[in-house]
Amino acid sequence: MSGGARETTGVSDRAGDRETAGAEGRETAGAEGREILVIGASGLVGQLMMERFGQRAAGTYATHDMPGLVQLDITDAEATRRVIDELAPRVIVHTAALTDVNMCERDPAASDRVNVAGTRNVAEAAAEVGARYIFFSTDYVFGDDGPHDVDRLRMPMNVYGAHKAEAEDVVAELDDHVILRACNVYGYQREGKNFAMGIFESLLQGRRVLVAVDQWGSPTLASDLVDVAALLVDSDVRGPVHVAGPDQVTRLEWARRVAEVNGLDVSLLEPVPYSALGASAPRPRRGGLFARRTEEMLDIRFKRLDEGLMAMRAALEEAGVLPRAAPRKSI
Ligand SMILES: NC(=O)c1ccc[n+]([C@@H]2O[C@H](COP(=O)([O-])OP(=O)(O)OC[C@H]3O[C@@H](n4cnc5c(N)ncnc54)[C@H](OP(=O)(O)O)[C@@H]3O)[C@@H](O)[C@H]2O)c1
Repeated sequence: MSGGARETTGVSDRAGDRETAGAEGRETAGAEGREILVIGASGLVGQLMMERFGQRAAGTYATHDMPGLVQLDITDAEATRRVIDELAPRVIVHTAALTDVNMCERDPAASDRVNVAGTRNVAEAAAEVGARYIFFSTDYVFGDDGPHDVDRLRMPMNVYGAHKAEAEDVVAELDDHVILRACNVYGYQREGKNFAMGIFESLLQGRRVLVAVDQWGSPTLASDLVDVAALLVDSDVRGPVHVAGPDQVTRLEWARRVAEVNGLDVSLLEPVPYSALGASAPRPRRGGLFARRTEEMLDIRFKRLDEGLMAMRAALEEAGVLPRAAPRKSI
């Protein structure tokens, strides 16, 4: 998980588009007529969804106000119903969640309010307007024997995973729903702190980083996740869908490859057991998702870690964070 990290790119083309309740007396003014509603559009994944959908989508934020987005706290059932009724989207893409896994462990009531009750509020409002519902979930609904295929028994090991599993059950009661499970999402972010960007920034600044040697997962390039969500918006696929890169690696291996691809100092990575990181929440040692069925169903291929890291490097170069690699000389 990104641990609450978020990026701030992606909605600048909508700047100036924002009107508030003060302008026209309605909290959704300026966002009507869009067929897609992204709930959680100020988050890491939500911003990428907004970038991809452009003028097709309206989006909401809870606390991080961004141009063009409508304010919505999904724990407020009445406000959730009102916003969804007013916008009457054909599809709701629900990325909103309390994603700080350690915080959810320390404050299960807060996690329950957003991740379970909030999802129920959105699901009920979606049912009222007959919207297709794409709900983002996580590999943390499963136990310690990953990578997990869609039909695996769910056995969450922490509060966040348990609440996401409860939310999945709420969503599964709707006729037209997708439960889109993701894991270990990474890619270039201007300000975000997904794992790969966090490692990149630390090593670039010459800081040592403790990295777990015993925590396995399936790093997933953010653009692959967005591609799948975009395909699902216009499909009639229903039920659980997994998105994950094909490589199963430890955090240490993942970090090492980030260093190598970007020419950074691998020796700054300090291998430790997960237990030495002082996290509040237990996590699967063997996490991650198995996503071959999704590749076959949608006729796509998820990027291997090396390909994804090269794409991230290209984006870092494009953004001027890294100097462009010199073109290879022919021999
Ligand atoms: N990133 C990953 O590696 C990963 C892996 C597996 C699954 N997922 C799933 O993918 C989804 C998106 O994750 P993310 O990394 O993009 O999360 P994120 O960056 O933490 O963003 C969370 C979003 O939820 C919104 N939100 C929080 N509380 C809310 C509330 N009470 N009402 C309405 N909105 C609220 C936030 O709004 P404000 O910021 O405006 O407060 C923000 O837009 C989540 O469902 C997560 O479980 C992500």
